[in-house]
Amino acid sequence: MIVDILTIFPGIITPALSESLLGKAVDEGLLEINVHDIRDFTEDKHQSVDDAPFGGGAGMVMKVEPIYKGVKACIDSQPNLQSTVIVTSASGRRFDQQYAEELSRMEHLIVVCGRYKGIDARVMELFDVREVSIGDYVLTGGDFAALVMIEAMARLIPGYMSKFEAAETDSFTSGLLGYPEYTRPKEFMGLEVPEVLISGHHENIRKFRRRKALEKTLHNRPEMIDSIELNEEDKSIINELRSENSDSR
Ligand code: ADE
Repeated sequence: MIVDILTIFPGIITPALSESLLGKAVDEGLLEINVHDIRDFTEDKHQSVDDAPFGGGAGMVMKVEPIYKGVKACIDSQPNLQSTVIVTSASGRRFDQQYAEELSRMEHLIVVCGRYKGIDARVMELFDVREVSIGDYVLTGGDFAALVMIEAMARLIPGYMSKFEAAETDSFTSGLLGYPEYTRPKEFMGLEVPEVLISGHHENIRKFRRRKALEKTLHNRPEMIDSIELNEEDKSIINELRSENSDSR
């Protein structure tokens, strides 16, 4: 996969891409990430990327020309790939694990980091743009949002997991939040690792983890329980958890 990022703050994006597993994935050639400064696509002497909004109001709007030129150059640079253009925006569709999976199967992603009040709406008419938000809150700019999306998406690229991580135990992959994990030492400040995890009894470990995942989801994100398929074992665990909860009130 190739990812082109258009930003007016390459200094936010570039360092993050060389660190951690994302950096390794880039080194190993699982994905190529190119960061472009939108100012490089301006033609005026001040390299302006923003201007006041028509119709008035506070704040600045990102100009259409440099973004058009930048996106067009990225598309033209990969004539044999299907390009998908994403604009980060608080008013976009909400990014989630399912969307990360969808993006991880794309050939060529072009991510435009929105800033200020937003970008000139004509960009959305000139290209088939997907506006994407990482959550219901407003950031000063979309650079961190772009990093969040790329980091969530990159680890799902075929090959990444087998090399570096395991996806099956991720929160959301099973429709539930993740169960708690422990590592050495077995005891820390009087807190013991649950006995079952040291027992070597695989079936009991599986049941323990399922129960803990259900418990966590019920506590932190109860609405998620209604949207997943529960088997009989899950249903009886949930009934137990619910009655334990009402007993303790
Ligand atoms: N830009 C500003 N807020 C944002 C958000 N929540 N997601 C994506 N881009 C943004």
